[in-house]
Amino acid sequence: MVSLDTANRIVSQILNSSLTGVSLRDFAMSQLAQVPNYNWVGTYLLGGNELILDTYVGEPTDHTKIAVGVGVCGTAVAVNANQVVSDVGELTNYLSCSAKTRSEIVVLIRLGEQILGQIDVDGHVVSAFDHTDETMLERIASVLADRWEEA
Ligand code: SME
Repeated sequence: MVSLDTANRIVSQILNSSLTGVSLRDFAMSQLAQVPNYNWVGTYLLGGNELILDTYVGEPTDHTKIAVGVGVCGTAVAVNANQVVSDVGELTNYLSCSAKTRSEIVVLIRLGEQILGQIDVDGHVVSAFDHTDETMLERIASVLADRWEEA
């Protein structure tokens, strides 16, 4: 789990940058990738009934398109709620990006009621993420949404 100091520093760096759109998302992922246990970080964009991989830092994934309702990512959209998974080994509806991944957090990027996409983070240890991580990612998601640009 991220420390409050680190969380505040990363949110400030993202807020204080003058970047927008995909450049901002790319910068945000490069900042998040430096947090301990953030072993894969990325954004997915919602287009129709599927999520499309956008910016990421980490090993390439086969899951470049994920249907709504499938996996942790698709479930977040289907149920309109962030997902914090302590142990992915306990899930049946899970898409493996890396055999090393043990826990995962997905935070929706919302503009009002609309879901624009999500931030997805994978960790190599069980219970890598808690409420501090979720709150930080929600703050970042809000900045990304405010500075969104259509692809
Ligand atoms: N684990 C995700 C798929 C995305 S990869 O982890 C990058 C899921 O179950 O939806």
